[in-house]
Amino acid sequence: MAPDTVTMDKIVSLCKRRGFVFPSSEIYGGLGSSYDYGHYGVLLKTNVKSRWWEAMLQERDDIVALDSAIIQHPRTWQASGHLSGFTDPMVDCRTCKLRFRADHIEQGHCGRKPSRKPGETSDCNLTEARDFNLMFETTVGPVREDGSTVYLRPETAQGIFLNFKNYLQTSRKKPPFGIAQIGKSFRNEITPGNFVFRMREFEQMEMEFFVPPAEAERWFEHWTEQRMNWYTELGIRPDHLKLRPHERDELSHYSSATSDIEYLFPIGWSELEGIANRGDFDLRAHAEHSGQKLEYVDTASGERYVPHVIEPAAGADRALLALLIDAYDEDEIDGEKRTVLRLHPRLAPVKVAVLPLVRKDGQPELAAEIHRALRGSVQSEYDEGGAIGRRYRRQDEIGTPWAVTVDHQSLEDRTVTLRDRDSLAQERIAIDALGEEIGRRLRAPWRSPKLND
Ligand code: GAP
Repeated sequence: MAPDTVTMDKIVSLCKRRGFVFPSSEIYGGLGSSYDYGHYGVLLKTNVKSRWWEAMLQERDDIVALDSAIIQHPRTWQASGHLSGFTDPMVDCRTCKLRFRADHIEQGHCGRKPSRKPGETSDCNLTEARDFNLMFETTVGPVREDGSTVYLRPETAQGIFLNFKNYLQTSRKKPPFGIAQIGKSFRNEITPGNFVFRMREFEQMEMEFFVPPAEAERWFEHWTEQRMNWYTELGIRPDHLKLRPHERDELSHYSSATSDIEYLFPIGWSELEGIANRGDFDLRAHAEHSGQKLEYVDTASGERYVPHVIEPAAGADRALLALLIDAYDEDEIDGEKRTVLRLHPRLAPVKVAVLPLVRKDGQPELAAEIHRALRGSVQSEYDEGGAIGRRYRRQDEIGTPWAVTVDHQSLEDRTVTLRDRDSLAQERIAIDALGEEIGRRLRAPWRSPKLND
């Protein structure tokens, strides 16, 4: 495996410097583990989510889409087991007033100087471990009263189960079929951190695949393979990805089998996505709590059963972080150091930059005309500010795969140079052929140049 130059600090600093991700509420001193996505971050995350939707909806006929409410009936969380079981054990220190996860106390830092582990000094005064529910609570309606307590959803999955019956009635689908959803989830994590890896507000990309019970194992294998392929096709190096089946004592209360797709983050191998065989736990639980029948009935044969569920559950922020880390590279061109994001072109926030070589002789006007023509089909950026080398570097740093340069010759024969971010090759090409060539390159299979390192 090639040694990586990337560290979490370099990613955080690039994200801030180039406007991908900012610490949230910074003018008020920031709010722990909350982040705001800036312009390039929004474009990149939109592309990650679009690739996910494509894999779920466009490339298959057996999955439909959903966008459910964040605040759902509170009994949802009784049925799902989140009210009683979605907890972490925690201890408080009565002296420094900090809160620590009881099962991670070895990694905790006492709030007093010099920093020690919680409980290590004679001043530390720790409480017994208590269960702390990770759901954010709020109230609906103008007054706080009995029955007005609701929760921000801690996963998008439950919205899918609540709508299972609607989809059976309206979508003309029968098992095996899936319902996919992307949306925000909220968890009051005791130890968030590592940038957007673990936040209290994050975005999930989840799909619940409903299958006849006897087919559950086969579909679990299918989805595990599909999801691994999704990451490698987007350019993640296979030797930085692995599948880790959960031990029996690690399984969530609803799961009979789970495998995590792990990525080699700078913090070590960590979960990127989980694929779980949830059995019939959720549909049965919601049927029991709601009094509704949540089962599939075959109209021809009369056969009826509660489908089993295979769930690939990914995090959009975590996927974005892994893709940024995997793409980050540093090299040297003509003795000058360069930071470059070797992102898959279909993920890159900007596909093409259009640059006049000099800011005179009609070059800016022609470059602006090309930019206007290209932006009809791809995200294009026009930049005339500064030396051409610096403009290339700016684009390399945000991962723009191609740069079009308008020069003196362009005015004479309507050709431009097309520069490749990774090979640095510059080809002369007719302006009229640009749109088609960029489209062709975007559709072509791609592999990370870091694989050759
Ligand atoms: N419905 C199953 C479920 O929610 P999970 O493993 O808790 O499973 C799925 O979450 C994915 O959501 C994780 O693999 C991760 O990518 C993302 N995720 C979970 N908690 C997160 C957090 N606090 N911050 C960012 N992403 C998170």
